[in-house]
Amino acid sequence: MADKPKFIEYIDDALEKSKETTLSHLFFTYQGIPYPVTMCTPETFQALETFEARSDDILLASYPKCGSNWILHIVSELVFAFAKRKYEFSEFPVLECGDSEKYQRMKLFPSPRILTTHLHYDKLPGSIFKHKAKILVIFRNPKDTAVSFFHFHNDVPDIPSYASWAEFFRQFMKGEVSWGSYFDFAINWNKHLDDDNVKFVLYEDLKEDLATGVKQIAEFFGFSLTGEQIRTISAQSTFQAMREKSEETHGTIGPFLFRKGEIGDWKQLFSETQSQEMDEKFQECLAGTSLGYKLKYESYCQF
Ligand code: A3P
Repeated sequence: MADKPKFIEYIDDALEKSKETTLSHLFFTYQGIPYPVTMCTPETFQALETFEARSDDILLASYPKCGSNWILHIVSELVFAFAKRKYEFSEFPVLECGDSEKYQRMKLFPSPRILTTHLHYDKLPGSIFKHKAKILVIFRNPKDTAVSFFHFHNDVPDIPSYASWAEFFRQFMKGEVSWGSYFDFAINWNKHLDDDNVKFVLYEDLKEDLATGVKQIAEFFGFSLTGEQIRTISAQSTFQAMREKSEETHGTIGPFLFRKGEIGDWKQLFSETQSQEMDEKFQECLAGTSLGYKLKYESYCQF
């Protein structure tokens, strides 16, 4: 049997570490943000400061559970179609995860390198801005994001669970979850969505019209592809298509990562009070901002 792809090997290692980690020991704080000890280390964060970006690096930024694996798949298929080269993930693609030597190894990787990140904008290494790498930012409405995050913890056997949805909701609202607060992440990115080299994508827009989303992403990165190629990539990137292949692509965690892929699943878990609490938080943090408008909160977050 062929060796496990590096990607799956890394996930399996993190799951192995998770088995021995309780929820109360899951996080450490680095520069004010909680990260899971199973995926991040202070040494890697220090080494990240030496990361040398390239102008043709492709960076995919998102808060956890907003569809990073979806967008990663779309972009690697676009690179494949354009460059006629299968994209090899010789390193786990999340920029801030892994051992502290990874940035040295990454110097040898051919361009374009595809990287994902859950870092807040102000925590990205300066080299990314200096070299003007292109950044695609994917956002999802905060209610579905919270529910997806909760299921991830409570459904995957090896990941520490929360006592209840109510408990997870409390921590999510306080920002005491992996990669910190959704709202801080959003406020931080909000100021940069119209920067050169940054493109915003909404999970819900992709869900409603995948082919148009794929075409816009291809244009942003300068990949000129035929309508036929865009249609093929879209067909391979639907939730059903990705879920079917998820064990092959992501190992045992695959079916948990590709859980439901729907808009509005939050209505299954949110109480009226929780919904109102989040509406108030949204108002306080994002109402009247460019991102607040782009998230289409009124359409996706009302009972
Ligand atoms: P659900 O838990 O609501 O199903 P991430 O990759 O950032 O961890 O995000 C995971 C979420 O994205 C999951 O949400 C997953 O189902 C959803 N997702 C992944 N691929 C998708 C696709 N092709 N279409 C729609 N949603 C997708």
